[in-house]
Amino acid sequence: MELRVTTSLILIFSILLSPLMALKSSSSSSSLSGGCDLFQGNWVLDYSYPLYNESTCPFLEKEFNCVNNGRPDRFYLKYRWQPHGAGCRLSRFDGRNFLEKLRGKTIMFVGDSLSRNQWLSMLCMIHSSVPKANHAVNISVIQDMTTYTFTDYGLKVTYHHNLYLVDIVKKRYGRVLNLDTVTAGKMWLDVDYLVFNTWHWWNRRGASQPFDYIQDGTRIYKDMDRTVAFGKAIVTWGRWVDQNIVPNKTKVFFQGISPSHYNGTDWGDSKSKSCSGQKIPLLTSTYPGASLPALTVLKNSLKTIKKPVTLLDITTLSLLRKDGHPSAYGLGVMDCSHWCLAGVPDTWNILLYNLML
Ligand SMILES: *[C@@H]1O[C@H](CO)[C@@H](O)[C@H](O)[C@H]1NC(C)=O
Ligand SMILES: *[C@@H]1O[C@H](CO)[C@@H](O)[C@H](O)[C@H]1NC(C)=O
Ligand SMILES: *[C@@H]1O[C@H](CO)[C@@H](O)[C@H](O)[C@H]1NC(C)=O
Ligand SMILES: *[C@@H]1O[C@H](CO)[C@@H](O)[C@H](O)[C@H]1NC(C)=O
Repeated sequence: MELRVTTSLILIFSILLSPLMALKSSSSSSSLSGGCDLFQGNWVLDYSYPLYNESTCPFLEKEFNCVNNGRPDRFYLKYRWQPHGAGCRLSRFDGRNFLEKLRGKTIMFVGDSLSRNQWLSMLCMIHSSVPKANHAVNISVIQDMTTYTFTDYGLKVTYHHNLYLVDIVKKRYGRVLNLDTVTAGKMWLDVDYLVFNTWHWWNRRGASQPFDYIQDGTRIYKDMDRTVAFGKAIVTWGRWVDQNIVPNKTKVFFQGISPSHYNGTDWGDSKSKSCSGQKIPLLTSTYPGASLPALTVLKNSLKTIKKPVTLLDITTLSLLRKDGHPSAYGLGVMDCSHWCLAGVPDTWNILLYNLML
């Protein structure tokens, strides 16, 4: 299970409709094409949802299959994200169109289990929207990378499990999280669409922390402020992007910060000690809790990148979904960090789909 993130977000930041334009030029929503900020809006009931039946998705892992794990309520499956701007239309996900347009391409999700959450959502969305005869899938696993190839279209959808994006190096004296190197980057070359994420593991401490020291430049620390370290790693990753990405070949997205719900005080319900028993979203467009420091740090670090990187700014819309987590209907422990599938990551993918095509 991921570590809890207790703070939350109010900061509204605008994002471009076109992934071809650099993030740093998106300073206000009025500058967006058509005045549309896909990430500002609210959740509305839509009985045509969910987009797939989890029991017929062959890829879905137990961890996210809340219905199969006995979750009794179903309303959480019935919400659609509605951006606010006039003329701000979010196209419904059309798997056949997606497969046709992305024939022969590769999409890679790189990050921790929140990336796996989004990757499995995308696989289920594609699978459910094409007829049986047309979705033969070849699965290949190489080290930390799992690739599902929709063979009739040659579309590869990969998950690269990578907790920090920067390196953990084994030294004589221990494991060192090196904030300055991105050796894994050689695995990301020549991919058409890259979707990165890291954050939840930056606050790990104790036995589950997979490093002993943090290296920043020539200095090695026993520990340091983890949000600061995260910001430095994103800058390093951004340098990798600037040095290696060919913009007319590869589009780069950053998944943003996926929030957790462990403290009801954040959403005005001081009796709730977790997301347990939450059955409906907040139907407002802003979240009452405090802003998320990691998101501010992420946005500032992304501004140092010269090549185009699109932030998939899913924090606010996900904060509103205190009902979207597995709670006890995941792997058995109280999980208010990951998301049920079908569920919230389907919307992240609808946004990605709209920004990609
Ligand atoms: C999902 O599929 C299963 C197995 O085919 C079926 O029993 C169930 O009724 C379906 N659920 C919905 C909501 O359609
Ligand atoms: C599946 O992928 C593996 C690894 O890339 C390849 O060796 C194999 O030929 C593929 N099988 C099919 C049926 O495409
Ligand atoms: C990508 O851009 C480079 C440099 O501008 C150019 O040489 C190359 O032909 C372009 N490739 C494609 C596929 O458009
Ligand atoms: C929940 O958040 C409130 C307000 O930030 C804080 O006072 C309280 O200590 C938190 N509760 C827990 C269990 O962390």
